[in-house]
Amino acid sequence: HPSVRERIEQKREAALVGGGQARIDAQHKRGKLTARERVALLLDPDSFVETDMFVEHRCSDFGMEQDRNKFPGDSVVTGRGRINGRLVYVFSQDFTVFGGSLSGAHAQKICKIMDQAMMVGAPVIGLNDSGGARIQEGVESLAGYADIFLRNVLASGVVPQISLVMGPCAGGAVYSPALTDFTFMVKDTSYLFITGPDVVKSVTNEDVTQEELGGAKTHTTVSGVAHHAFENDVEALLNLREFFNFLPLSNKDPAPIRECHDPSDRLVPSLDHIVPFETTKAYDMLDIIQAIVDERDFFEIMPNYAKNIVVGFARMNGRTVGIVGNQPKVASGCLDINSSVKGARFVRFCDAFNIPIITFVDVPGFLPGTAQEYGGIIRHGAKLLFAFAEATVPKITIITRKAYGGAYDVMSSKHLRGDVNYAWPTAEVAVMGAKGAVQIIFRGKENQAEAEAEYVEKFANPFPAAVRGFVDDIIEPSTTRRKICRDLEVLASKKQVNPWKKHANIPL
Ligand code: COA
Repeated sequence: HPSVRERIEQKREAALVGGGQARIDAQHKRGKLTARERVALLLDPDSFVETDMFVEHRCSDFGMEQDRNKFPGDSVVTGRGRINGRLVYVFSQDFTVFGGSLSGAHAQKICKIMDQAMMVGAPVIGLNDSGGARIQEGVESLAGYADIFLRNVLASGVVPQISLVMGPCAGGAVYSPALTDFTFMVKDTSYLFITGPDVVKSVTNEDVTQEELGGAKTHTTVSGVAHHAFENDVEALLNLREFFNFLPLSNKDPAPIRECHDPSDRLVPSLDHIVPFETTKAYDMLDIIQAIVDERDFFEIMPNYAKNIVVGFARMNGRTVGIVGNQPKVASGCLDINSSVKGARFVRFCDAFNIPIITFVDVPGFLPGTAQEYGGIIRHGAKLLFAFAEATVPKITIITRKAYGGAYDVMSSKHLRGDVNYAWPTAEVAVMGAKGAVQIIFRGKENQAEAEAEYVEKFANPFPAAVRGFVDDIIEPSTTRRKICRDLEVLASKKQVNPWKKHANIPL
């Protein structure tokens, strides 16, 4: 018989090869890395500290008790490590062991690292690649999912949670990524759906492929379930490292500050001419954002979904900030259901994790129409309003051009406790555009053109807001970066507390 020491070594070696070389080769053949290769790429070299390498499943049905069906570590690799020196907890599902399916033991391993992450205050990253519930374990496996879901919910707003879907994720399994703050996907090799194409066919008689139903393109352009898609495992993991650098470790941690080589008082002369003279002409809000932030480094979230609003992370003088901007290039930058929800979720993440919010406003209003009204734009638009209003992090707002109607109020206005609200000289804060306004208040009257000119003269400029103190200053666009950097320094010590409540009741 082998000695205990020999057995320990054997088990460790067995854990390192998961389901064996043939299944590893199959994984590679699909263009996928193994669970361990992924962890190694995600974390700093030699920083991974593994837990529960000896854990095995406890199922004894369907021959599962046989030695050949036991794999040390079971179907998930768990532990902690560092990304650029900063602590993170990670689990990586191992598709080579029972298709990465979730056994009771697998769930227990994940729960263990989630509990510790919450206690010490560090983010959790999940690398998902799993055939779902371990069919042989039945309800034990379902219980395991619920144990994870509960922790996802309790950890929400306490530590950042990120899911990177790198293979199948179906059925109940989808709800863990759905509950986390950010869901990223790998193109062509990952999919997320509640029920697969076969079930869909039998219930609704629709013919749809896996990729069409729940691939990366679907979820990053149509459903809004995922926040980003990457070309392959390596690109996804390297981007995840970059993304992680923006995040605080927990809700008790200030947003990280990185050494900055981009002068905080840098002027940006190009901005003085970026807004077209004609108010109906489009421009790209991304150009403004990139010109203002440190080193043009902007990590956009959901770049291909609800493109009429832009959200993402950047740094100002080294400090992480969340950026929200209407996008005049797409649907004139109007707010609709999808953009409201996209914006609201982003604002709430920033507020939960102490990340200041900078909002660039050029919004002609909410999108009209039956599709929007029947879809509940009132309820969904209210989410963005709610999110901006309840946020207590530093809030800086720049009105670049239009700020019309209710949308003006929504977009981090002074009235929702904007700390610093600027208008560029091109700003127009009004109930609506001149043409529409004149058609209503001078309906059927002559001299429409004259009335329109009067309206433009009165309202199509920053003064009506500035004379009332609804914007704090009218600034030269070229000075915007300099001013925001200075304001953020002052606002770093901002303290604002909302009334006590068990929790708010955001319109869902
Ligand atoms: N429970 C137990 N074992 C599972 C499993 C599950 N949910 N899903 C996959 N496996 C096993 C397979 O039996 C196979 O084992 P083997 O290597 O010993 O033959 C291995 O994992 C790989 O699965 P396979 O079906 O060969 O891989 P695939 O890439 O062709 O297909 C899936 C992947 C996920 C599409 C497919 O395995 C599947 O449909 N699984 C069931 C999904 C499901 O309905 N889960 C329960 C609902 S939550």
